[in-house]
Amino acid sequence: MASSLDAHLGSQCGSDPVKRQVADTIRNLCGAAVKLRNKIIAGGEGHGQAHGATNAGGDVQKELDVVADRLFMEAAEASPLAFFGSEEQDEAVPLKPDASLAMAIDPLDGSSNIETNVSIGTIFSILPVDEEHRADPSKVFRQKGSRQLGAGFFIYGPQLLLVMSMGNGTHVFIFSPAFGGFVEMKTSIAIVDKAKEFAINASNYRQWDQPIRSYIDDLLAGSEGPRERDFNMRWVGSLVADCYRILLRGGIFLYPGDGRKGYAKGRLRLVYEANPIAFCVEHAGGRATDGTTPILDLEPEGLHDRTPLVFGSKREVERVGRYIADPS
Ligand code: AHG
Ligand code: MN
Ligand code: MN
Ligand code: MN
Repeated sequence: MASSLDAHLGSQCGSDPVKRQVADTIRNLCGAAVKLRNKIIAGGEGHGQAHGATNAGGDVQKELDVVADRLFMEAAEASPLAFFGSEEQDEAVPLKPDASLAMAIDPLDGSSNIETNVSIGTIFSILPVDEEHRADPSKVFRQKGSRQLGAGFFIYGPQLLLVMSMGNGTHVFIFSPAFGGFVEMKTSIAIVDKAKEFAINASNYRQWDQPIRSYIDDLLAGSEGPRERDFNMRWVGSLVADCYRILLRGGIFLYPGDGRKGYAKGRLRLVYEANPIAFCVEHAGGRATDGTTPILDLEPEGLHDRTPLVFGSKREVERVGRYIADPS
């Protein structure tokens, strides 16, 4: 029998008490993910309906956004966490005052896909909490992504998957109802260096800065243009699904800043989307930047700060950086 998630987490922690708390938190998140999966597969007309409010980022909250937020907040309350930061809550929520961890979460990623039976997900980021954060909680979610102790995402698709890293490779687990838990599916993923696919919401083309347009133009020109091969395009609209595909077969994902109101830094949030995705991608040998700067080196302005996000096959992400650095 393939080793379960428990065995993997045990192997990652050794006797380190903080790592054990990270592992305990991930175990609790798995319980919430299975509950959410059961609600999703049971269907429910209301899931994709507007809940009647907008969140701090201005997204209209769907019913399932709110249901997911409640499930993961319950899991957080049962975990060794001092703070809980969610896409669906304006402020960080204080939990256990003496705990040494904080968690930021996108409870439901890909909300626009809820009623279309397309894969959606949950993205989480686990950070340390020390005295300076207890003294000034506003600093908790302004930590750089390089300080993450663990991060990952669940995908609610044909399979319920957990993709995670505690800093020692990126690994995939599949929920097995027969086993009654998550079992190892892929260990130490390595993103291939050559990309053959790109992921971008091309409807925003007219809003992008010129270097991004030039880069996409050259991908579209393929081997008839300056590129050595033709490329294919995929855009799911659920970050977790696009990321998992890229982890498995390489490629590049771009959500650049654009000219729309409020989207100068793009649509994606740094703390609970870009940072955890970057952590998993980098620990799989890929790269994640805001176009030029590594995502994990960026200092968030706050829990809901946005960032342009480019990630995937190392060579391709570095090529985007050259288009931006030398637009000639
Ligand atoms: P969320 O549903 O958590 O708000 O995130 C949706 C994000 C991300 O999953 C996806 O890559 C992106 O929004 C899609 O953006 P567009 O709808 O602009 O394509
Ligand atoms: Mn949203
Ligand atoms: Mn999201
Ligand atoms: Mn979301």
